[in-house]
Amino acid sequence: MSTRKTIKGKDKGPAKKVANKVQAQQVEARRNAKTDPGNNDAKINDLQKNTEDSAGEFLTTNHGVRINDNQNSLKAGERGATLLEDFILREKITHFDHERIPERVVHARGSAAHGYFQVYESMAQYTKAGFLQDASLKTPVFVRFSTVAGSRGSTDLARDVRGFAVKLYTQEGNWDIVGNNIPVFFIQDAMKFPDLVHAVKPEPHNEIPQAASAHDTFWDFISLMPESMHMIMWVMSDRAIPRSLRMMEGFGVHTFRFINEKNKARFVKFHWKPLLGLHAVVWDEAQKISGKDPDFHRRDLWEAIENGDFPEWELGVQIVEEKDEQSFDFDLLDPTKIIPEEIVPVRRIGKLTLNRNPDNFFAETEQVAFHVGNIVPGIDFTNDPLMQGRLFSYTDTQLIRLGGPNFHEIPINRPVAPVHNNQRDGYMRQTVNRGQTSYEPNTLRGGCPFQAGVDMGGFTSYAERIDAQKVRARSASFFDHFSQATLFFNSQSEPEKGHIIRALRFELGKVETPAIRERMLALLAQVDNGLANSVAEGLGLTVPAKLDKPMNMSVPADGDPRKFQPKRVSQSIETSPALSMVENPNFPNDTIKTRKIAVLLGDGFDDAAVAEMNKALLTAGATPKTVAPRLGVVTGANGESLKVDFSFLTASSVLFDAVYVPGGDASIEALKRCEGSNEFVEEAFKHCKAIAASGSGVGFIAQSLREKFSESNTTGKLVAAIAGVVTGRGAVTANFTAEFIKAIAQHRHWERENSTE
Ligand code: HEM
Repeated sequence: MSTRKTIKGKDKGPAKKVANKVQAQQVEARRNAKTDPGNNDAKINDLQKNTEDSAGEFLTTNHGVRINDNQNSLKAGERGATLLEDFILREKITHFDHERIPERVVHARGSAAHGYFQVYESMAQYTKAGFLQDASLKTPVFVRFSTVAGSRGSTDLARDVRGFAVKLYTQEGNWDIVGNNIPVFFIQDAMKFPDLVHAVKPEPHNEIPQAASAHDTFWDFISLMPESMHMIMWVMSDRAIPRSLRMMEGFGVHTFRFINEKNKARFVKFHWKPLLGLHAVVWDEAQKISGKDPDFHRRDLWEAIENGDFPEWELGVQIVEEKDEQSFDFDLLDPTKIIPEEIVPVRRIGKLTLNRNPDNFFAETEQVAFHVGNIVPGIDFTNDPLMQGRLFSYTDTQLIRLGGPNFHEIPINRPVAPVHNNQRDGYMRQTVNRGQTSYEPNTLRGGCPFQAGVDMGGFTSYAERIDAQKVRARSASFFDHFSQATLFFNSQSEPEKGHIIRALRFELGKVETPAIRERMLALLAQVDNGLANSVAEGLGLTVPAKLDKPMNMSVPADGDPRKFQPKRVSQSIETSPALSMVENPNFPNDTIKTRKIAVLLGDGFDDAAVAEMNKALLTAGATPKTVAPRLGVVTGANGESLKVDFSFLTASSVLFDAVYVPGGDASIEALKRCEGSNEFVEEAFKHCKAIAASGSGVGFIAQSLREKFSESNTTGKLVAAIAGVVTGRGAVTANFTAEFIKAIAQHRHWERENSTE
């Protein structure tokens, strides 16, 4: 905040003073509204040092000179050339010219929020990390979600992995869990990461396609990389098109280590479990959202936090004793494998809450720099060869993205733990280091800053025993490329399997080179024959017999290809329900909190029905929004007025979770006359969403759904005979609203899906 004093005699006028006061109050109110009073304020207070909101202040140059005319440049005469002398113009334009920095080489598109993490009980038995000892401690966090392939301005709903990067500003330094919403990765060794990314990014000759893997170079690479098949199953599943960033899991992916006070190490995998459940959209919907609202996920996160619906995840850990390292069907160091939850349960140890939107997208979301290598005492790495490469990559890329070695001083990156060392200078150095010495050991400064003993929080690396030859090689224990891909596919419900098949038909259907499609079919046949045949059918192909041995191009020039063939290891489980989104026992569909429900109406709507429904939806935590033929206000049959949130021009069913059509003859007539209203219901039906209609609204949805709509009379009353469609011709009762709420909680009614094919 500026502390500048006003210049005597040149103070602001009284009217301006009042306006400025109001503005300042608004800014303050907004800030207070956005901050959960329970939050640990350490990071927020730290950011305040660099926060500026101009409330009540004069416009100045960067050097603090007040500007009198911000409308006209300095000219030699009214119609003359602009003068080089105009330092105000030069400064303004120069700064503007340099406003952009390179976007991230991957994960360029992202959205972030502040919050805090709190452990449920001390984890001292497993780790000495300070913030995991004390259940009363709230550790500030900054979390950035992202897609991987698209550029900064690309759509949120691309089929893609979502980044889930968490920076915990602990008292012992920053710990970053730089994870994804998928627990495995495409490749096993960092050496291949640039190739993978070059393959998935837009093709270099024509920069097509944007934010999409459905093109030749990606599938060319994948078709030669059997180790990617497990990840491919996940990316082709509904996990890659989440309904909301608030409704997806997060995973640390690699196996890490927990180290306790006695220096005992255990392996650990990290999970984030969303308390709003696990939900996706359907692919047709995703593509439409990309046009209707490319910022769908960003907006959803932002609005939820502004509304006080703070998203929450529980931190889960799977802990494995060191002695059990070799006891699995796979290698713990292999990032293409999960530890099934049925084998090692996930223990939920704490909660992450996001409760404050950033003040400035660039300063915070864009400039935040995560790094897998940012760890604190009590956490350590393993030899996962993908993670080992990442340990190099993040600082390296941030050096260029953020313009030099001092990006750790950028407010969003600086720790709340004190920083003292002898690193000096470099571009944009902010810290003014005092004193004569910048080396250690020294006597001139009494040895300061001095090293910290372990008992004083000094970090020591886990003393893993290593006795090895230097080799460029991969362990044979990494060669089972298909078993967990099969486990994933077998664990899906039938609708989810159908979605994977259709996703592969879509993606490979966009591939133009026939040989790539064929190689992919051969790989899919290794996962599941039925899957390969179904995909082949959609492509008008058959699974090629001559390629029954998939190609593996991960062979060094002098390597013997026979030694690189994938091996199947028999698995101890055949299915893992925790891998399915639909049948996942961790996420019962028991809440509709924060879901958006479209209420379609016009003048003359049934006031009582809408009031009853809105009350029930709001009580259940959902957000009803009115959609009407035009913006403004609609008036019910009994004179009740409602603000219209969207017109049919600005809303679309794909932006909502469910639809309700209340009765009211005039309202229904108005809807019938309005272009897009029938399509709204029809599309919601196609995407298997819950639909409710009451009174004459039933006739409206019957018209929209035509032959798909049927009623049964089993209970003496006519009710819709279709899953997820709730109708009642009489008054809206508590039973009616409860049934609709149950249908929304189901999220999607897949029984309807085949009838829409
Ligand atoms: C060798 C493998 C990998 C390399 C070399 C690599 C490299 C990178 C690079 C260069 C960035 C941009 C960072 C920036 O500009 O600040 C990035 C971002 C990111 N990476 Fe990786 N990555 C690898 C694997 C992974 C894996 C396996 C995961 C998930 C576990 C992952 C998750 C992320 C996330 C979430 C971000 C975005 C961070 C943010 O929101 O700023 N990466 N990665």
